[in-house]
Amino acid sequence: MSTPLSILTVCLGNICRSPTAEATLREAAEDAGLQVHIDSAGTGAWHLGNPPDARMRAAAADVGLTIDGLAQRVDLAALQEADLVLAMDRSNLRDLEHVADGAGVDTPIVLFRDFDPDATGTAEVPDPYYGGPDGFAEVVEICRRTSQRLVDALAAGGVEAALTARREDA
Ligand code: 4NP
Repeated sequence: MSTPLSILTVCLGNICRSPTAEATLREAAEDAGLQVHIDSAGTGAWHLGNPPDARMRAAAADVGLTIDGLAQRVDLAALQEADLVLAMDRSNLRDLEHVADGAGVDTPIVLFRDFDPDATGTAEVPDPYYGGPDGFAEVVEICRRTSQRLVDALAAGGVEAALTARREDA
């Protein structure tokens, strides 16, 4: 049996966006019968060991999605071990590229919303942390539709196919 693909989603705190993307990717992969190992991490260390933000869990629960896991910080080993790393915003992407480039890691690292069928241009998953409930609901919506598209592409032909399936204007 081949080893399942390994995907890592990354945001700043690992308590809002990346655990949501982790959950929606897992949900879409399960629906598609695709074997994928999915994990999430943050570039910052403020919330290490904490569960996802209660507001994020509530917005997810409103639409039947469970978000779990405990916040962890992304490290070099996690970047090396993943087959695909998905950054939630451009700042996360820059931070990850800095670490990967410095260590010669060649794992593909791209913006998650490069796969969002409803986005245009360089789209980010907006940081909901300092905003109201609508922002958390929006994160769930974005993560669900983006995960669906990405999993479809992964099911069709693995990471190479997925990278090719990124929006042309991304
Ligand atoms: P996340 O959201 O990066 O989506 O987990 C945030 C969580 C915490 C903070 C900022 C964003 N913070 O400033 O503590």
